[in-house]
Amino acid sequence: MRERIFSGIQPSGVIHIGNYHGAIKNWVKLIDEYECIFCVVDYHAITVQYSTEEFRGRILEAAKTLIVVGIDPERCTLFVQSRVPEHTELTWIFNAVTPVSDLKRMTQYKDKRQQSADNINTGLLTYPILMASDILLYKTNAVPVGEDQVQHLEFTRELARRFNSRFGSTFPEPKTLLGETVRIKGLDGNAKMSKSLNNYIALMEGKDEIWNKLRVAVTDPARKRKTDPGNPFICNIFSLHKLFSSDDEINTVENGCKTAGIGCIECKQILSKNMNIALSPFREKKKELDNNRDYVLDVLEEGRKFCSAIASETMKEVREKIGVIY
Ligand code: AMP
Ligand code: TRP
Repeated sequence: MRERIFSGIQPSGVIHIGNYHGAIKNWVKLIDEYECIFCVVDYHAITVQYSTEEFRGRILEAAKTLIVVGIDPERCTLFVQSRVPEHTELTWIFNAVTPVSDLKRMTQYKDKRQQSADNINTGLLTYPILMASDILLYKTNAVPVGEDQVQHLEFTRELARRFNSRFGSTFPEPKTLLGETVRIKGLDGNAKMSKSLNNYIALMEGKDEIWNKLRVAVTDPARKRKTDPGNPFICNIFSLHKLFSSDDEINTVENGCKTAGIGCIECKQILSKNMNIALSPFREKKKELDNNRDYVLDVLEEGRKFCSAIASETMKEVREKIGVIY
């Protein structure tokens, strides 16, 4: 029997190259080795302000993008979190075994508190409990994520241990699977490329949009003029070259930057060309899926059925273990 993997992505906006290189590319690699379940976690995304009108479209957009980049529904399961209500049922039970102090320590909670100071809702705090429920509901063995989610997975293992020791062995403690690239910085030089900070390049971005974003992206601040030598190792454009450019081109821009042999604009043009080469096949495939909505709905319905069957088994066991039976 293959071990089971679960991972999720929020439909809080378009999927960007940080999501892809930090997480999804790794998901695709794992499909044949594990039994994989991937989820569009819509209930996680409602903890920040959003437009209901746009949200509807985004759930399907996220599902389509995942299929386009290689989450092949023939070889793994793809579904939408809100369609399997056991996720929120298990969350309530986990609420009752989680100390508030553990939640208040979470880095993502502290960041989000600052970013949405006018909307510090309870969901921002209990977010990791819903995530732990997503994972444990399927008795998941391993979870592939980017570095920003490592703390949430430690929390999930702790929660599993706490539940098991109080109510008897029920959940395995899931491993964290990090890919080769763990964190992609934003175009503004911020530590994390993120939908909410609007410092991203989307996977489906067109050629001109890519260039317009790269053109103004932050580089080594010491390079004010083309004649100033730069330090590629502190320049985010250089780290993006490592994801999209050939070894030769990486050498060229590294040396060119250090010796002021090429300017930032030229360096960005090479990156823009390579990004476009890498992303244009995704854009093409996406057009096909845009014309085939029914296929995407069928995939998600199959996924829902598969997940509901497992979820209802787990919940039966959990209700018995916690004594909610008569
Ligand atoms: P989210 O968009 O927050 O739902 O994240 C989906 C997945 O992408 C998670 O596994 C994150 O760890 C990963 N991820 C998000 N932003 C980045 C980033 N800037 N660098 C690397 N991985 C990321
Ligand atoms: N919290 C994750 C993020 O922001 C998304 C997520 C929700 C997730 N549930 C999950 C990831 C379960 C892995 C497993 O990126």
